[in-house]
Amino acid sequence: MKTLVFATNNKHKLEEVRQITADWVNIVSLEEIDCQEEVPETADTLEGNALLKARYIKEHYGFDCFADDTGLEVEALNNAPGIYSARYAGPGHDARANMRKLLREMEGKENRKARFRTVIALILDDKEYLFDGIIHGVITAEKKGESGFGYDPIFMPDGYTQTFAELGDALKNRISHRALAVHKLAEFLSSLS
Ligand code: IMP
Repeated sequence: MKTLVFATNNKHKLEEVRQITADWVNIVSLEEIDCQEEVPETADTLEGNALLKARYIKEHYGFDCFADDTGLEVEALNNAPGIYSARYAGPGHDARANMRKLLREMEGKENRKARFRTVIALILDDKEYLFDGIIHGVITAEKKGESGFGYDPIFMPDGYTQTFAELGDALKNRISHRALAVHKLAEFLSSLS
């Protein structure tokens, strides 16, 4: 089985991606390679940030790896928070504060359409590849549900009547932006062998 480092410090993402890829790739965490640094995310696109994170691990630790960057793009807010999703309410990466700010910005807005977009950058044998996944939905009027992380309690995917946080991990991991991107990564890796 192929082994790849997943360049994330987010335990929820690690768990999600491990569940999705359990049968075909052995995923190693940053903790397991003893990387404790905060990897820089200073690019102005999701693609740029995902590549920065993957290149950092390849350059400093030498492992083939992949990294993801995700943004929540809200139509009525000109696609904000986008690449600033993690620090929308300030530098603290506080999901509750981010959701509070987003719900406030959306007060009185009729158009509540939004999408999550994930970009995965893979570095394999010194070549770089990009994969993306998008899920469309709406921003709810209030938080609902306990599972997942980040903006999950206020994002309701199209075709469902509950938020990601109500739908639960198993369903989210079948339909989410990250699942779509990870499946593209999986198809690519299996096409190589
Ligand atoms: P990053 O990809 O870790 O930079 O994530 C950017 C922001 O989007 C963070 O605030 C995350 O909590 C949030 N985020 C990323 N993926 C998800 C998701 O699957 N559901 C909800 N929020 C997410």
